[in-house]
Formats: sequence, C-alpha cells, structure tokens
Amino acid sequence: MRVAVLVSGGGTNLQALLDAKNAGGLRDAEFVCVVSNRRKAYALERAKQNGIEAVYLPTVRFENREDYHIALRDILLERKVDLIVLAGFLVVLGDPVIQAFQGRIINIHPSLIPSFCGDGAYGLKVHEMALERGVKVTGATVHFVDGGTDTGPIIFQKAVEILPDDTPEVLQKRVMEEAEWILLPKAVDMFTQGRIHVKDGKAVIE
Ligand code: GAR
Repeated sequence: MRVAVLVSGGGTNLQALLDAKNAGGLRDAEFVCVVSNRRKAYALERAKQNGIEAVYLPTVRFENREDYHIALRDILLERKVDLIVLAGFLVVLGDPVIQAFQGRIINIHPSLIPSFCGDGAYGLKVHEMALERGVKVTGATVHFVDGGTDTGPIIFQKAVEILPDDTPEVLQKRVMEEAEWILLPKAVDMFTQGRIHVKDGKAVIE
C-alpha cells in the first residue's frame, strides 16, 4: 500500500516508521510522500534523507481552509495514496480529505483518549495537562480519523506510568519511547496487511 505521512514538527514518529521499514519490517507499506505545513519541520529532512518526496504545503498559501484541504487532497490522490498517517500533523483535517480517504486515515495522539484530547490538546500541551491533573498513568493512542478532533475509532492504546519528578518534556519522551514509536509502526504494518478496518464505527483488528 502507498502511504503518505503528514507532519508538522521533528518527525520522530516518522523516523520510527522509517526505522521499522529499513529494518525489514512494514513489508506492505511504501512511503510515497511526506507533507508538512511547516517549512522548517525536521521531518521534511528525514524524508529527503530516505529518498521520499517531501512536500511543503503551508496554509498561508490559500485563501481559506477549504481550498487548503482541496489542494492537500489532490496531492494525495495524485500520488495514489492508500493510507494517510498523521504523525504530529497539527492542522485539523478538512472534509475534502476526510471524505476522499474515509477509513484510510490514522492519527497518533500522546494520551489515552478520551483523556487530554480534542481541540487545543496537542504535543507538549497534552503532557502539561496530564501532569496538571495529577493522573498516575497516561499513554498514547492510534485511532482512525473522522470528522471530529480525536473522536475516531480507537485502534491501539498503550499505558505509560507517570513518575513523581516528571516534567512535560521528560514525560513526552517516555510516552514516545514506550508507546508512540511502538504503536504507530504496528498500526501501519497491520493496516497495510489488510488486518485493520472500520466496521459500525469501531476499529476491527484481525
Ligand atoms: C507526537 O507526540 C504526537 O503524538 C503528537 O505530536 C508529537 C509529534 O512529534 N501529536 C499530537 O499531539 C496530535 N494531537 P514528532 O514530530 O516527533 O513525531
């Protein structure tokens, strides 16, 4: 399957996918492009280093949100993408993309959904919210993307312990290492093998 990865930042989740591929895994996944809304996203460098097309698509180039998402959809359709992976993509996907790729978009989120998710909950902020609330366990979630923010069917979750001296940065790193970089390659591998799909609003895993 042809896979596109959408990013906005450092791209360590993208790197986890590329590492899995380069180690001989993800046999049914071909990474065809990486799209970023931010020019300086280091994820674009990671794509180039791995011979993958890197596309910079800033929102300011478009008059409105609808036009941005039509352009994004067309980039993905032109490349005959089968699966879209949101790996730290901080633009909420618009209807044109969601409708064209129903059941074929997955996202990684750095908490145990439905905790610490939804509008405004992204990146380091998620870990700040978890520490502020004083929860003892957090984690990460891979889920299908629907029309809402972090509301789609859940595929995998993994819990991560919170330790007394954690700062948001320390916790973010632990959640990535112990959960995100494991769950995302696993989900992409299983989806591209045809072993995960949506049925009756739930993720079915075979
Ligand atoms: C990751 O922690 C990812 O889960 C999070 O952004 C970070 C991107 O890091 N995504 C969200 O918060 C989405 N709501 P990366 O660029 O190093 O992969």
